[in-house]
Amino acid sequence: MILITGGAGYIGSHTVLNFLKDNYDVLIFDNLETGHIETVEELKKAGNVTFEKGDLRNLDDIDRVFSKYKIDAVIHFAAFSLVGESVINPAKYYRNNTVGTLNLLDTMIKHNVKKIIFSSTCATYGEPEYTPIDEKHPQKPINPYGSSKLMVERIMADYDSAYGLKSVKLRYFNVAGCDTQNRVGEWHDTETHLIPNIIKSVFEKGQTFKIFGDDYPTADGTCIRDYVNVEDLAQAHKLAYLWLEKENRSDVFNLGTENGNSVKEVFDTCEKVLNQKIDVEITQRRPGDPATLYANAAKAKNTLKWEPQNTLEHSIKTAYKFEQKLQSLKK
Ligand SMILES: NC(=O)c1ccc[n+]([C@@H]2O[C@H](COP(=O)([O-])OP(=O)(O)OC[C@H]3O[C@@H](n4cnc5c(N)ncnc54)[C@H](O)[C@@H]3O)[C@@H](O)[C@H]2O)c1
Repeated sequence: MILITGGAGYIGSHTVLNFLKDNYDVLIFDNLETGHIETVEELKKAGNVTFEKGDLRNLDDIDRVFSKYKIDAVIHFAAFSLVGESVINPAKYYRNNTVGTLNLLDTMIKHNVKKIIFSSTCATYGEPEYTPIDEKHPQKPINPYGSSKLMVERIMADYDSAYGLKSVKLRYFNVAGCDTQNRVGEWHDTETHLIPNIIKSVFEKGQTFKIFGDDYPTADGTCIRDYVNVEDLAQAHKLAYLWLEKENRSDVFNLGTENGNSVKEVFDTCEKVLNQKIDVEITQRRPGDPATLYANAAKAKNTLKWEPQNTLEHSIKTAYKFEQKLQSLKK
């Protein structure tokens, strides 16, 4: 059985679907703080899913689950991931993302489960010193969210040396899109991501979408990011898991498309895909936004044999369909 922490959330739920497709038994551990029980219900329809509600900050919750089930490996998504909130409330981030993971790792060691795939982030790199960013780029996070994840990466390296815990750290760039079959999707009550926010502005009357700054040193003046499709990302987790099973050693991989898209390009693609004009306003830059961030993902391609398949258009189309579903729930 594969334990997926945070399986009721956005990326976790798509990864659950990917494992179910290959008939794995999946155990979801989630406190539903930013995840949704409706997502779990949807996942249960797709295969053999067991759900345990619990919190990583509570050792007893985790220990109960490891005592009850035979767990072969862990895929660990559960965390908070709002950069701005982490600046205002760092304790919340270090306690959940770092201490919560420490609780998980200690429980794994106690129950002799020695393989984990971890959701890390390009936020561990901080201000880019060069692009595209490869795994050797210096890691100097500029916010507590990034630091909370970098600490986990370091803890995992030490737990490998000391206890033989093998980990694959996956550093995602900007994740986008939703399940092609529209079963699950990106459902964040506080949404900070570009594509769902452009789409929400279409549904919410009187909302004008804001572009934060068009005076960056890029071709059209807006920030460039690397939008990796969530189903492609889920597939990378499957490949990382199979690789770890075979190789039994720790490593780290960037996950991105290696294509940078500017905010304006994404916005224009949304207008094209949705076939409508969307109200937009250019406002001031936000502090802490680097001009350009995109991945060198050659290592994941060569080693894990990962090849992202889905286009930006597909991500936008599926995100739109899922937002329609969310809007219909509100009625
Ligand atoms: N979305 C992105 O673009 C992105 C980019 C880089 C990294 N990541 C990382 O990927 C992971 C998943 O992100 P997401 O966008 O799916 O977030 P999400 O908020 O949709 O999912 C996180 C899930 O974890 C659960 N959770 C949080 N704290 C928990 C705890 N203490 N105990 C049990 N469950 C807990 C939440 O209820 C939720 O279901 C996170 O670790 C995030 O830092 C995301």
